[in-house]
Order: sequence, then C-alpha cells, then structure tokens
Amino acid sequence: MTGSFDRLVGRHAEQWGPAPTGVWRAPGRVNLIGEHTDYNQGLVLPFAIAEAVHVAASSRSDRVLGVSSREFGTAEVDLASGVPRTDWLRYPEAAVRTLERSGVPVVGIDLTIESAVPVGAGLSSSAALLCAVLLAATDLAGVGLEPEALALLAQRAENEWVGVPVGVMDPMASMCSIEGHALFLDCRSLEYSPVPLAGPPGTDPLSILVVDTRAHRELVTGEYAKRRASCEGAAAALGVESLRDATIDMLAASSLDEVEVRRARHVITENQRVVETVDLMRRHRLEEIGPLLEASHRSLAEDYEVSIPELDVAVEASVEAGALGARMTGAGFGGCAIALAAESMLEGVASAVGEAFAARGFILPSFMRAWPGPGAARMA
Ligand code: GLA
Repeated sequence: MTGSFDRLVGRHAEQWGPAPTGVWRAPGRVNLIGEHTDYNQGLVLPFAIAEAVHVAASSRSDRVLGVSSREFGTAEVDLASGVPRTDWLRYPEAAVRTLERSGVPVVGIDLTIESAVPVGAGLSSSAALLCAVLLAATDLAGVGLEPEALALLAQRAENEWVGVPVGVMDPMASMCSIEGHALFLDCRSLEYSPVPLAGPPGTDPLSILVVDTRAHRELVTGEYAKRRASCEGAAAALGVESLRDATIDMLAASSLDEVEVRRARHVITENQRVVETVDLMRRHRLEEIGPLLEASHRSLAEDYEVSIPELDVAVEASVEAGALGARMTGAGFGGCAIALAAESMLEGVASAVGEAFAARGFILPSFMRAWPGPGAARMA
C-alpha cells in the first residue's frame, strides 16, 4: 500500500505491528437545505464535502478494539467487557458493537484514524467517523453491506450507544454522495437521487462558502432531543405517522399549542422548500435558490428556534455583501452557516462576515470553500 496514504499506513504499522489491510475514507457533509426534516421522515439535500475521516485497519485475534488517533492518543477497548466507554472512544466502539449486534462477527480490530472534518462544527464529523469504521470493519469481516444499510447502522450506533436521537441524513450523505452533486434524499423511503450542483454554463461559477462561527453550544444535544420530541408529539396530535404527512391546513384546525404549531410549520414548509430547490437545480437555475435558503434560515430561527446571533449575523452579512443566499446548516445552536455566491464574490463575502463578527465582539469565524465530493469508499 503506497501513495497518498503512506503516512497513515506507516503510523498504523508503527502502532499496531502489522501493516493495515486497507484504508477507508468517509466524508463530512454540508446540508444545502432540508434542516430538521430527516427525523420527521422528510426531505433533505446534503452533499459530501472534501474533508473526510480516513481509517487504516487490521484484524486482531483477541476481543480488543485498538484505536489510535493523533488528536486523542492511543487506547484499547475490551470488547468482552459489557461497560461502554463514554470518552472519545465511544464512536469507534459504538460502530463495532452495533455491527456485532446486527449479526456481523467482529473479533478484534486495530484502527488508526485521521480526521480532517472539524469536530463540533456541525459538519458531521461523528457520522463520518462511524461510517469509516463501519466500512473498514465490514470489509475486514468479509461482509459486503449496501451503503444504505451501513448508514442505518451508523445512525443506530449514534442513537443507541452515543445517546443522541439523530436522523439518517448525515450517514446517508457520507455513504451515498456523488461528486459534483447534492443528494436529494427521502428519509422515509431512503430513496435518493443526485442533483447537479452547478449554475448555468458560461456564467461566473457559483461556490459555497462555509462560515464556521466557532460557537459550539452545549445546548445542542438536549435541545435537539426536545425538538424531536415536540415534532413527534405534534404528529401524534394531528393523527399522522410523522410530520411528513402533515399539511398547513391541518395546523389551523388542530389543538396544537403555539410552539408546536411553529415547530410543525417549519417542518412542513422546509420539505416544500427542498422540493422547490431541487426543481430549480434540475433546471440549471442554481443561482435562483437564494430566497429559498434565506426562507429556510428564517424558519429555523423564528419557528424552530435553533439559530444563534452568530449564525444570523453570518447569514445577514453574507447576503448584504452580495451572496445569492445563505442559511445555517446542521442542527444549529452554533456550528456553521453556508453562503451561495459567485466565485468572484467569495472573498468579499468572507471579509464582510469577518467584519460583522468583529463589530459585534464575536469570536472571529473561520472560512472554508465547500464543493461536493464523493461518498465513502475503500481507498487502498
Ligand atoms: C444533525 C443530525 C441530523 C439532522 C440535522 C438537522 O446534523 O445529525 O440527523 O437532524 O442535525 O437537520
């Protein structure tokens, strides 16, 4: 195994003895639109980013999971012990234990991990890690699972072992994305289709700027679970299986309280915005999706109440500086916003956002240019 993975392969051999059997890669994601709809069996439109988790792996003959990461160090988990870890090892452990529960035999495994997905920024570093470990472990076990099946295992790992009731969007984006495209995903059927992420030919190419507010609120897990419970409560009160089946007319005639109405309204209107965005993109009118991105942000801020001042300022300043549209991306309560802008405007948008943050005394944001990369795969 040579080439661009030399360093990772070398670190693995140095740490664990044998050279790795392979190297697997799973990317983080940006969600273009369709926020807090996945756990309501709704529609989403994420894409995989270039930043990814790489995992080198080899089997071992005892019931131990060895994990080495430059960021977190090296440690071993005794898979024979029933006590799950609560530290950074819980993600690789969750992946391996979920796989075993689903009937795939895993004896022991050594992993060397390298992640370029910023942690805690809402770019889905945890799903990327889970997907990379699941891919490696199934390959080592000689079991070929479909990408959708791996994504569902990653979601279950996070739900059952890590204890966060996430939806299926992030692992599906990591597993199933196609370069140059966003992934239009129906979270009820898991049917998906790629949608080209490109403006009209012959125009200034469009780009997506990711603004990492670097505000990481602890609120995210508790508030996320509350939003999910509130949606499930609203669906039950409306007599539908999930908010995917609810309509605006049903809300007016319902006994939902004011907060539940707003939560449900966000989900119903957001699904509609995803459909409209996909429709424009399929007609090569990417430059026209800006108002939908902004409407999504307003709905997340006002009806769903998951934005924070830093995200609102990032969106406002981007649009004022000439972005075609902008919105928060991911769960909210911190993390990143995205802005769609002509390539030639990108620098100006970034500096306007930086100035707006400085003027308000916020921690200065960091910027990344995001473009849709390929989904997870074995690399070597
Ligand atoms: C997080 C979760 C996803 C999804 C988004 C909000 O990223 O992991 O399942 O619910 O928040 O759209």
